[in-house]
Amino acid sequence: MTKICFKEYDGTEHVVDAKDGESVMRVAIENGVPGLQAECGGNLSCSTCHGYLDQKFYDLLPKPDENEEMLLDGTIAPEPTSRLTCQIIVTPELDGMTVRWPESQY
Ligand code: FES
Repeated sequence: MTKICFKEYDGTEHVVDAKDGESVMRVAIENGVPGLQAECGGNLSCSTCHGYLDQKFYDLLPKPDENEEMLLDGTIAPEPTSRLTCQIIVTPELDGMTVRWPESQY
């Protein structure tokens, strides 16, 4: 099982077991992790699943596509390692990844 740590803006951590093949957003929602809304349910149209990755894991993943880049540009506080977590699929390589949530999704 792949372990992912979700870190709230205040530093509270939630380490959960993530099923390979699921989106990171879905893993957070299913485990009751606070800090995201995921209003569009993963359809790449809301950007309320925005999280920050460590550089190492950001570099492991395929780059965000044009639509994701556009939505990330519209988030309140994008950073160089920002991703929409509904677009990240869990694989064993992501074991140990930390996703930090921004202060707000709006
Ligand atoms: S859940 Fe809406 S863009 Fe990710």
